[in-house]
Amino acid sequence: MTLQEMINASLLAGGHDEVAGFIRQETQRQNSAIELIASENFPSDAVKAAAASDFVAKYTEGYPQQRESGNRGRYYGGCENADALEEYCCRKWKQVFSTDYHVNVQPHSGSSANLAAFLSVLKPGDTVLSMSLENGGHLTHGSPVNFSGRLFDFHFYGVDDTGRISYEALDELLYSCKPKLVLAGASAYSREIDFRRIGELIDRYAAAGGERPWFMVDMAHIAGLVAAGVHQSPFGVADIITTTTHKTLRGTRGGLIFCKPELARKVDSAVFPGSQGGPLQHIIAAKAVTADEDCTEQYRDYIRRVVANTKAMCDEFIRMGYDVVTGGTDNHLFLVDFSRTHPDLTGKAVQNMLDEEGITLNKNCVPNEKRSPVEASGVRIGCAAMTTKGYDEEDFRAVARRIDSLIRGYCASL
Ligand SMILES: Cc1ncc(COP(=O)(O)O)c(C=O)c1O
Repeated sequence: MTLQEMINASLLAGGHDEVAGFIRQETQRQNSAIELIASENFPSDAVKAAAASDFVAKYTEGYPQQRESGNRGRYYGGCENADALEEYCCRKWKQVFSTDYHVNVQPHSGSSANLAAFLSVLKPGDTVLSMSLENGGHLTHGSPVNFSGRLFDFHFYGVDDTGRISYEALDELLYSCKPKLVLAGASAYSREIDFRRIGELIDRYAAAGGERPWFMVDMAHIAGLVAAGVHQSPFGVADIITTTTHKTLRGTRGGLIFCKPELARKVDSAVFPGSQGGPLQHIIAAKAVTADEDCTEQYRDYIRRVVANTKAMCDEFIRMGYDVVTGGTDNHLFLVDFSRTHPDLTGKAVQNMLDEEGITLNKNCVPNEKRSPVEASGVRIGCAAMTTKGYDEEDFRAVARRIDSLIRGYCASL
């Protein structure tokens, strides 16, 4: 019996026919769709089994007894197994990134990790410098509709005419905004982020008399590439590093925070009691399994294939005459910009049209976007999920050609 069959049988035995039906339909959708959403992936049955374990029933507010930050102790009894699990999970994540940074595995999500990271070193109203949402940043990096933009005074750097991060703009903003924190990381950026260069700009600013800002990296999208050594690592450069565990790390949904050891107490306090109550121990079990998997050579090989597949698919779009932002990709995603080649086509229309054909991706703003984010002039394409399903470079080229033919048909029908 497969894991999904066992889940189905348990739900039916409990009389939850309708819920079982929704889950079966989602399994069918995931099995039949071509999944190109850059922030999604397919975790293993082992990850899913851990997430469904008896730890779901355990309340464990606080931290294990062996905690280097000093924030030790749980508020309830019966936590000895949870303590052992959480300590193991922390050790394994340090191993994934070969780091002696402190790690907190309790954040429920990437957004919760970012909230706690901000709260650990900032006060409300403090100035933060981050990459703008229109240029590839994330909602939690200062959007006015998000807690980040409401709590802190965000200023933004963006991309230059080539679509690449403008390190010059970032440098100038350091001096004009005097931020308390500089944030690097993105949701829709296809090129390697030069963390060392940002660290050097901060060093130079501090040497010139500026008050040294904290350097935070949100590596949610590229964490798997960092783990596999195919993207520059923020460890050793950034003070605080956040990530999700469900994108290229291919694990359960969830978040992690790493920090330099001297920030351990502040970060732990900002997670609990600062911004969360009891951690999700069943998800910590699933994060531990994710870390087990991500330490392996098999996983590193997977990530190398993701990068090769993404380049192959991206090159095929370019060969067919499409505009790709920055003219290519270094990671697991790329952005197709329709604004010059198909001025009447919106990202939303392409997303909806492909959805009906069983190809799932998302609309995305492009540099110098003229449309609202709801319409957008481009799409974001990621290759991590279908690489998990076994697609190779030729499969991805074939999908690119199929998307092109569907777009042609759609434009002809307008
Ligand atoms: C860069 C980045 N940070 C944070 C998040 C938020 O993660 P979550 O959806 O788990 O809150 C995302 C999600 O897409 C992201 O791309």
